[in-house]
Amino acid sequence: MSMEKIKARLAELRKQIQYHNWRYYVLDDPQIPDSEYDALFRELVELEEAHPELVTADSPTQRVGAKPLTAFRTVRHRIPLSSLGNAFTHEELLAFNQRLQRNLGTDTLQYMLEPKIDGLAVALTYENGSFTLGVTRGDGIEGEDVTLNLRTIKSLPLKLQGNPPEILEVRGEVYMPKAAFLALNRAREEEGAQVFANPRNAAAGSLRQLDPKITASRSLNLFVYTLAQKSDAPLWEQGITTQQEALAELASYGLPVNPHTRLCRNIQEAIEYCRELEEIREELPYEIDGAVLKLNDLQLQEQLGSTARSPRWAIAYKFPPSQAVTKVKDIIVQVGRTGTITPLAILEPTFLAGSTISRASLHNQDYINDKDIRIGDQVVIQKAGDIIPEIVRSLPEKRDGSERIFQMPSSCPACGSELIREPGEVAVRCVALDCPAQLKEGIAHFASRDAMNIEGLGPKLIEQLIDAKLVSDPADLYFLTSDSLLPLERVGKILADKLIAAIAASKTNSLERLIYGLGIRHVGLEAAKLLAAHFQTMDRLMAADLSQLTAIPGIGPQIAESIRDFFSREQNQHIIAKLKKAGLNLESGAKQTSAGLSGLTFVLTGTLKSFTRSTARSKIEELGGKVSSSVSKNTSYLVVGEEPGSKLEKAKKLGVKILSEEEFLQLLEENSS
Ligand code: IVH
Repeated sequence: MSMEKIKARLAELRKQIQYHNWRYYVLDDPQIPDSEYDALFRELVELEEAHPELVTADSPTQRVGAKPLTAFRTVRHRIPLSSLGNAFTHEELLAFNQRLQRNLGTDTLQYMLEPKIDGLAVALTYENGSFTLGVTRGDGIEGEDVTLNLRTIKSLPLKLQGNPPEILEVRGEVYMPKAAFLALNRAREEEGAQVFANPRNAAAGSLRQLDPKITASRSLNLFVYTLAQKSDAPLWEQGITTQQEALAELASYGLPVNPHTRLCRNIQEAIEYCRELEEIREELPYEIDGAVLKLNDLQLQEQLGSTARSPRWAIAYKFPPSQAVTKVKDIIVQVGRTGTITPLAILEPTFLAGSTISRASLHNQDYINDKDIRIGDQVVIQKAGDIIPEIVRSLPEKRDGSERIFQMPSSCPACGSELIREPGEVAVRCVALDCPAQLKEGIAHFASRDAMNIEGLGPKLIEQLIDAKLVSDPADLYFLTSDSLLPLERVGKILADKLIAAIAASKTNSLERLIYGLGIRHVGLEAAKLLAAHFQTMDRLMAADLSQLTAIPGIGPQIAESIRDFFSREQNQHIIAKLKKAGLNLESGAKQTSAGLSGLTFVLTGTLKSFTRSTARSKIEELGGKVSSSVSKNTSYLVVGEEPGSKLEKAKKLGVKILSEEEFLQLLEENSS
């Protein structure tokens, strides 16, 4: 290839990858299957490896890679970042509106309503369309340069679409999605590290890492909500007269704008929308702690100006906190997959913010001592960052003398071996290799949805299999026969056949699922994907040394050590050999199923009779299709089960094709190879 051709191909590949990143991470609506995307990406990597002098800073391959920093640089904001006044009641919102009406001498004020994302504010600068600087809010005047960490956020475009100006400065919120927060805390609890109190702290802690590889492993995300500067002239002289238009402008550059923003024609509509947002709060995949009302007209905003702390034209409506008082009936201890022993409070079941709370993790003995939580205590509970229930404090004034102080056991409740507390860790751990509780957790993890997704293999059955000595490691599952299961209590022929079929079906799962399922300490889904993509085969992964492992962006020394430790154990080598013998897929890209549904996007609503949501999802994905959580004009099919939700109405409105469960099953059948 001539140099000209190489340059043209590089430009073309980058453009395409940027476009598909945007479809996937910003719109949640990919256009091509992952395998095609991977092929484009690989081609770009290879071409850049062959011509390192042609690598550009805004190439999609350059998200992670820089060496760790020793400190963050302090940067003065070009335009200070203010904060917002708060309102806690609807009356306060009415008063806010009256104040604005009086000041502006008009009673027709329109507001842009936006979810208040519970994360941390950042200011992003693009020069000639390339992302060049990202700074934390700091004290509003000065913040820290976290550009390298922000580059790892996949929804943040390194290069803007459309016709960006010479200088564009935008503001937005970096946040950690609920699922990532829960997974991170679960992993930290297993490791004996302190858990984060809420997604905001987790996001802040992750963004302020000196090593971008750590940030990259934390699944941070971004929404932008302010167009702070576009060239030098005021926005309205450049045709942008409202916040609504400003948001549209941001979206047109490929920046992620929250989909739940809404223009309200008056304060009543705004209050109504605050109510609606509070209602959908639980369903959103990220945490919101209120709504932000912004006067829509930018010139009126300018006219009102700001006080020392916050603009007069905007206000944050904060949702009321959800707390309740309940009783600690008991404190039990659980043995995790890696042997960590965690105390758990069993609570008098209480309804709180949309769900019934009957247990709360107490993390470790220090936590219990600090909060002075005793068995029998009345306690105040809340949902931390409104997701996981936690005990805020005990109420000692309510004690009657019958309460008991809890002490962590010194031996494992499952196998009786002595527990150890590693120096520097808050957790105690059972290190027995044959501890049945760890084995149960390990097999449950292996069979779980994101791992091998073996439907029907629940905790009860796993316990039976282990107690009956039919299974003593995950590989044993593949040597079970239907007949060997029949002696188990409440297991009939039909159930046994189904389970064996589900286990057999999992043999062709992707390599990344298997790697994740092995339950290697510190290796989550994200790391498993990186490892599978890099090494392509289980054998190569097993043979990799520390330097080969840490050379992969996103794999730090701790993960690498843990992987080496795992594969150096004879017991684990033996398990892999058995998996091989059972005929599992140990290669990336091998045994690809036909991609009969590729390019199609499905949305599911209501209860399906033949499978759970997650199985339906994997079936679609196996056939190359994609599942999205909300209906849009890009949805190919809405699959409707019993008692469908509001998605059905929306699909009808948009003219999206609707499939009954029977029709859906037929479609799957027709497209399976
Ligand atoms: S506008 C002058 N919009 O809330 C405008 N802020 O309590 C100030 N936040 O510092 C920011 N979602 O970190 C704005 N849609 C949104 C927001 C939002 C979350 C955060 C932001 C701000 C804080 C103020």
